[in-house]
Amino acid sequence: MISFRTFKNGDPPCLAKLWQAEAALQPWMRPVPTPVLEDLVISKPYFDKLGLLVAVAGGQVVGFAHAGFGPDAARSKLDTSIGVICMVLVDAAHRQQGVGRELVARCEQYLAAKGAREIYLGGVSPYAPFYFGMYGGSDAPGVLASNVAMQALGKKCGYQVVRQVCLLTCGPESFKSVVDRKLLAMRRTAEVRVTEDPAAADWWEACLLSDFHRLRYDLVAKDAGQAVATALFWTMDPLSWRAGKRAVGLFQFSVTGERRRQGAATLLLTEAVKRWHAEGCDLVETQVPEENAPTLKLLSRMGFVEDERGLVYWKKASS
Ligand SMILES: CC(C)(COP(=O)(O)OP(=O)(O)OC[C@H]1O[C@@H](n2cnc3c(N)ncnc32)[C@H](O)[C@@H]1OP(=O)(O)O)[C@@H](O)C(=O)NCCC(=O)NCCS
Repeated sequence: MISFRTFKNGDPPCLAKLWQAEAALQPWMRPVPTPVLEDLVISKPYFDKLGLLVAVAGGQVVGFAHAGFGPDAARSKLDTSIGVICMVLVDAAHRQQGVGRELVARCEQYLAAKGAREIYLGGVSPYAPFYFGMYGGSDAPGVLASNVAMQALGKKCGYQVVRQVCLLTCGPESFKSVVDRKLLAMRRTAEVRVTEDPAAADWWEACLLSDFHRLRYDLVAKDAGQAVATALFWTMDPLSWRAGKRAVGLFQFSVTGERRRQGAATLLLTEAVKRWHAEGCDLVETQVPEENAPTLKLLSRMGFVEDERGLVYWKKASS
């Protein structure tokens, strides 16, 4: 007989045990111990125990699902009109008995009661308040294409795929140092500066990334002293999920409007990736929406290759 309840303070070791059992099977899940789970999930300032639903059988925790919200447009507080079910996990012995579906239904009720009008299944940036860095690589990619059971659950619960995310990596063997006239011209007028653990750009970035070591690479115009391009990396040690590999996540990058199409992004990323590899980092990882063709082209030119796909599952919340 399976019963359902909300989170209790004694649950983290049981959740970590469930997590670790699954992480041993899934390459994109990092096998985190209880203290890391507490840091990256339970200690978030917006953690709400009512949003973490737990399935219990014979006094043991056999599954959980976790619902929450992403940031508002100013990234200064939660926006409760869009909900997300960040995680659903059922232990192997209790699968295909309706537990996952019941957990999802209870998460949906929680989200709707808080005002959600639409819901994502699987954390997808920026709707990924929990498990960032624990599942899915350098950002939150939705449900991974290789995760057949989770996709089947999504479809059964009425979700549809609304977009896709490419998970890209670049190791020293695939990296290509791009050199062309535009880059040479840009190199004469700008230089790369690195800032360790820069102040977070906003409240949401602080919530997501403050547990990680971050480096911001800026391409700064020598004459004006202003950044024309910026790239933010976070070191995924000790959260790199590939055994024996050191990985760094490229979390976001941008070029100021008037300096686009002049080679600024290619120059900055080429320098940054070269430095990461020189420092012994095995993989630089990033995630790009499938429809962002210019960025995919730029990264492919530098030797980034697609390793996985994320599928973004979405539905309207029932009122
Ligand atoms: C996905 C998962 C949560 C499903 O849990 P579950 O308790 O087995 O799911 P349910 O029994 O409620 O299944 C509901 C429906 O989902 C579909 N489904 C679930 N698992 C399936 C599988 N292995 N193959 C095919 N369909 C499946 C079916 O349509 C099922 O309905 P049906 O039994 O009437 O056909 C479970 O397999 C799991 O924990 N996987 C790992 C989770 C994970 O990777 N989480 C990280 C991303 S959020």
